[in-house]
Formats: sequence, structure tokens, C-alpha cells
Amino acid sequence: MADKNYVFSEKAPSIFFDTNFSKLSELVDKENSVLITDENIFAKQSEKFSSWKTIVIKAGEQYKNQQAVDEIINRLIELNADRQTFIVGIGGGVVTDITGYASSIYMRGLKFGFVPTSILAMVDASIGGKNGVDVGVYKNMVGVINQPQFLLYDYSFLKTLPREEWINAFAEIIKHACIKDKNMFDFLQEKSFEYFHSSLENIGNLIQQNVKIKYNVVLNDERETGERKLLNFGHTIGHAIENTAKLPHGSAIGIGMVAACVISEKINGFSKTDTDKVKQLISKYHLPVSFNIDKEKTWDILLHDKKKSGKDMNFIVLEGIGKASVKKIPIPELKEIFFSINS
Ligand SMILES: NC(=O)c1ccc[n+]([C@@H]2O[C@H](COP(=O)([O-])OP(=O)(O)OC[C@H]3O[C@@H](n4cnc5c(N)ncnc54)[C@H](O)[C@@H]3O)[C@@H](O)[C@H]2O)c1
Ligand SMILES: [Zn+2]
Repeated sequence: MADKNYVFSEKAPSIFFDTNFSKLSELVDKENSVLITDENIFAKQSEKFSSWKTIVIKAGEQYKNQQAVDEIINRLIELNADRQTFIVGIGGGVVTDITGYASSIYMRGLKFGFVPTSILAMVDASIGGKNGVDVGVYKNMVGVINQPQFLLYDYSFLKTLPREEWINAFAEIIKHACIKDKNMFDFLQEKSFEYFHSSLENIGNLIQQNVKIKYNVVLNDERETGERKLLNFGHTIGHAIENTAKLPHGSAIGIGMVAACVISEKINGFSKTDTDKVKQLISKYHLPVSFNIDKEKTWDILLHDKKKSGKDMNFIVLEGIGKASVKKIPIPELKEIFFSINS
């Protein structure tokens, strides 16, 4: 692969692991910076925001839209933000996605950084430079690829993160283990949800390993022409289930990963024993592995998935635990397998 594929189009972000939030005042000029966060984080960690100019947006995926971006832009104008202003998104994936996007379009682009506060944002959403918003039912329909200047990890934010959000994020952590890291898979099997939930040090170490996995994948493939596709493991069927069954993202991905393992057995010689291991691990971290889904409806949504190309669908399968690949599966074959999966 050519060298240029190994660097981001923008300068790669500096990453500060296990760093106190107070470091932010060394990274940016306080007088000429604006923080963006959501109402939950602002309410629960208000002390961190005192003395900073802060824009507080509504919390939740339903507010990850253009209207929220317009409100941010109006507030930036009121605050006299100019080309020198630095923007910092402090929050979960909704805040980091909106912040990266709003910062990239305001005055044709301001510099920005992230302080991810949910585990999902720490291991997934804040890494890779994809920023954007939803348009109606279409997720991440509008956006840009633009790298933040830095990522600051202060694990003390996790003290107020609701338990269900911890569980949700383990779906992506298990996904990383399945596609890239057999050792991490074994480690997760050996430990438990409580082991990580009860210790910021334990979860911090796990987060750091996961950042490296995602970072390496996107570094090799910023614009998703190859390896980055592997991060969609469990997501093709998972997204369809999320839509039909209105399940939380992590739960839908848990079920989607099990389905993808069964498909890997049929297509790729992945072993049934390994499917059972993946299933057990997902359950161990309190995520569902099956659900009474409306298969017809789920299949219809799946067919409209943007990863469909002609008569085949690009599908992420496992070769073994820790190794994934993209396979083109003829749609009739995929349909047959999908309908044969016992939920
Ligand atoms: N850009 C990408 O590459 C990428 C990758 C994966 C996901 N995403 C996006 O990320 C979003 C999901 O991220 P998320 O799960 O973090 O959702 P989120 O931002 O909605 O956060 C989940 C909930 O936790 C709350 N919260 C976050 N941190 C908290 C804290 N420290 N204390 C108390 N409450 C806290 C939030 O207010 C929210 O209610 C989706 O919009 C998804 O599309 C983007
Ligand atoms: Zn996901």
C-alpha cells in the first residue's frame, strides 16, 4: 500500500490517555475557545465547565440533526467566534459527531478537539474523523471526514455514565475483539462486566487497547475503501434490527454479531464452537444474543442497506476469532441463510 494511505488527510490527532480534564487549558486558549456539550453531561459534571464558554445542546440521537447544528452556529455568532476560535466537543458520540461537523462548516472550518465522555465515544465515535448528523430516519446522512486536533481521555467522566450506556459500548468492544484481537477476546472471557465497571483503571486500560484497534484500522483506510469496512461486523443485520425492533444500538449489534457468525459458518467455514464462544461472551456482558424479530421487515430494511451492491451484498464474516474479511454474498444465498437462523 502506498505511503500516503498511512497518513490522515489532516494531521493525525494527538491522543492524551488518562489525563485530567484540567489539561484542556494547556491545549487551547481558554479566552478563544468554545466548548460544546449536552444537557446531561453539563448537569452531572457542571464543575468541569465553570469558567469556560459553553454551548449546551439537547441530549439524544433525535437531536443529532441539522437544527442542532444551526443552533450551534447561531450561538457561535453570538459569542463572536471567528477563524481563530477553537471548538471542543465534550460528550458522547452525538456531541462529538455534531461538534466535528459544525466546526468543519462554520466559517469554512475551525479547528476542533474532543473530550469523549461515553465509552462508545472513547473507543469508537471520536476516532476516525467521520462527523455528521442524521436526516429524518437516515442516520449520518450528511457530514464530513475531518480529523480533530486532539483527543483527551479523562476517565472520571465515566463515573456518571449510566450503566446501560456501559453495556451498549461493550458491543463495540466485543466487535473489535472478534475482528482484530483474539487476545483481547480471551481477556474479556476471563474477566467480567463488573471487573471493568468497578474500576476506572481497568476500564481505562481496556479503552486504550480499543482506541489502538480502531485507530489502526482507520489510519490504514480513512475513506473506507477496504479495511475500515471490517468495523461493520454485526452492523448490517444489526442496523436492520435496530430499526425494526427499536432496540438500543449495542443490543442490536449483539444480535447482529451472532447472526454474522452463523453466516460465517455457512460461507466461510467459521466453526460452530467459535459462534458459541462469541454468543457466550456477548451474554456475559449483558447484551442479548437473540430476539423475536420480524424477519420479513428486517430483511426489507437490510436490502436497502447502503452496503448492498447489485446482486451481491458485501458482508463482513469471521475467518476465526480475531480475524475478519469482506465477502461478496449473492443476495438469494444470504436471504436463505438469514431466514434459516434460529432466533
Ligand atoms: N463518527 C463515528 O465514526 C461514529 C462511530 C460510532 C458511533 N457514532 C455515533 O455516536 C452516537 C452514539 O454515541 P453514544 O452512545 O455516546 O451516544 P450519546 O452521545 O447519545 O450518549 C449516550 C447518553 O449518555 C449520556 N452521557 C454521555 N456521557 C456521559 C457521562 N459521562 N455522564 C453522564 N451521561 C453521559 C448522553 O447525554 C446520552 O444521554 C451515534 O449518533 C452514532 O451514530 C459515530
Ligand atoms: Zn456500532
